[in-house]
Amino acid sequence: KSEVKVFDSDVLVLGSGIAGLYTAIKASQHFQVTVLTKKKIEESNTEHAQGGIAVAIDEADSPALHLEDTLRAGAGLCDPLTVRILVEEGPPCVEELMGMGAQFDRQNGALAFTREGAHSQRRVLHAQGDATGWEIERALVAKVKESPNVTAFEGRFVVDLLENDQRDIVGALVLNEETGELEGHLANAVVLATGGVGQVYRFTTNPSVATGDGMAIALRAGADLMDMEFVQFHPTALLIPNAPRFLISEAVRGEGAHLINAAGLRFMESVPGKELASRDIVARKIWQEMNRGPVYLDFRPIGKERILERFPSIYQTCVNYGVDVLTTPLPVAPAAHYMMGGVATNSFGETSLPHLYAAGECACNGVHGANRLASNSLLDGLVFGARIVEKMGDKIEGKRPSWEEVLCPNGALSVPRTEMNGFVKQSNDRGLRNQIQDLMWNSVGILRDEVGLEKATELLMAWESDDLSMHCVDDFETANMLAVGGVIAQAAKDRLESRGAHNRTDYPLKIDEPWQKHSLQCKEGFYV
Ligand code: SIN
Repeated sequence: KSEVKVFDSDVLVLGSGIAGLYTAIKASQHFQVTVLTKKKIEESNTEHAQGGIAVAIDEADSPALHLEDTLRAGAGLCDPLTVRILVEEGPPCVEELMGMGAQFDRQNGALAFTREGAHSQRRVLHAQGDATGWEIERALVAKVKESPNVTAFEGRFVVDLLENDQRDIVGALVLNEETGELEGHLANAVVLATGGVGQVYRFTTNPSVATGDGMAIALRAGADLMDMEFVQFHPTALLIPNAPRFLISEAVRGEGAHLINAAGLRFMESVPGKELASRDIVARKIWQEMNRGPVYLDFRPIGKERILERFPSIYQTCVNYGVDVLTTPLPVAPAAHYMMGGVATNSFGETSLPHLYAAGECACNGVHGANRLASNSLLDGLVFGARIVEKMGDKIEGKRPSWEEVLCPNGALSVPRTEMNGFVKQSNDRGLRNQIQDLMWNSVGILRDEVGLEKATELLMAWESDDLSMHCVDDFETANMLAVGGVIAQAAKDRLESRGAHNRTDYPLKIDEPWQKHSLQCKEGFYV
C-alpha cells in the first residue's frame, strides 16, 4: 500500500463525457477538481452523439410539451419530478453550454432545430450537421484545459472505489495505464460520470470505452443500481459485413428518410408515428421485418442538397463503406445504444452511498423511464451534473482521510488482486469478452424470454465465479462487463411484462399492476 502514489482533491470526477466535464467545470468555481479518464479525454459516447440535444427553447415549443413527450416515450416509468427538472432547467444549462463555446447550427441567424422520433416539436439542436457531440466535447475540453482548478489525467482506469471506516466514499484506486502502477486518488466527493454499457453487446453504436465500469465499481462498493433491464437499441445502425455498427442518426428519419424492405415497401406506414414512432417501437418493428429480409434506410426523400448539408459525416462514412446514400438505400439494423438504468440517484445526483454522486448515462434518476426520448441524454448530463454542484454548495462536508486510513470495499477486484505483476498493455485473450457479448446479444437483446434469460443468468454467474486473471485494463473491463451483464440479465428475467425497451415474448403485455415500478439491484441481490 505504501508504494501507491497518492493524489488529493476536493472533487474527483470519473469520466470525461458531457456529464463529467460540465460537472467538473461547474465544480471548479469553488473546488479543486480532478478528472480521470481511461483513454484520451475526448473519447466518450458524447463525442459520437450525432442527432443532437433536445431542449425546449424555440418559440413554438415549451417545457410542458417536452415533459409530455418524455413521459409518453418512457412508457409509464419516468419519474415526473426529475423529468420536470430536466425540461425546465435544461434551457439555462444549454445557454451556459453555448456560453462555454459550443456552437450549434443556425438558419438565418436563429438556432436551427431538427425533429426526432416521438418528439411533437422540432426541438433538437445540432452542430456541424451531424457532429453535435463532437462540437460539445470540443468546447468542454477546451474549457477544462483553460481552467486552473481542474486537473485532468488521461489513461487512468478506475479499479475500485475507496471508503473510510464509516463507509463514506473517499476516493478511487486507479491504474495508470502507461506505467502499470497503482494510484490512490482521495477526495471529499466522488462523481461517477463513466458513461454506458454498449460494449456488453455484440453489436453496438458505442465506442470501445463503453464497458459499464462505473456501474460495476458502484455495485461492488455497495451502491444501488436501478432499472437495468431497460437497454435501448437504436433502430438504425449501419449493417455492412465487417463494418462497425456506425450510428445512423434518428435525425435522418426526422428530416424525411423512409424505412423500406427488400420489396421497397415502407413497412412503418401502418404504425402510428410511422418512421418517427418512439425508438423502442421502431427497433422492434425493424427486428421483426429482418426475419423476412434486409431493411434499408432510404435517404432519397430528403433531397441531395439537404442530405449533404445536414449529414456530412454520415454521408462520408457511408461512402467510405461503399454506399452512396444520395442514390442508394442503406442497409441498417438495430444495435445496443443506451442504458436507461444505472446507479440510482435522487434529483441531486446523490447515490445510496455517502459522498458518491452520479450523472449522465451511468446514473439513473428516472428521467428516461423504460425508453429514453431521443436526444434527451446530453441534456440529462448537463442538468443533473449542474445539480450535483448545486447540492455541494461552496463547501463539501467530510474530512479527507489519510491514505493509511482508506479501505477498498470488499469487491471482486479489491487491492490484493491489483498488484500488477505481469502487467501488459492489452489482453491477448478476448475469449470471455466475446462470449459475454454473444450471450447478451442472443439472450438479453431486443426480444427476450424465460429460457434465454435463465441460460444467460446461469452462464454469467458461472463465468463470474471463475477466478479471472487480471493483467491489464482489458481484463478489468471484461470483469466489469460480466458484472453489469449479470445485473441486466437478472433484472430482465425478473420483470414479467413488456414495457418500453424491455420486450418479453413470453409476457408480451405491459402490466401496470404490479409492474409500474422501478427495479433496484445491489450486490446482495434484487429488490423492488
Ligand atoms: C441519434 O442521433 O439518433 C442519437 C440520438 C440519441 O441517442 O439521443
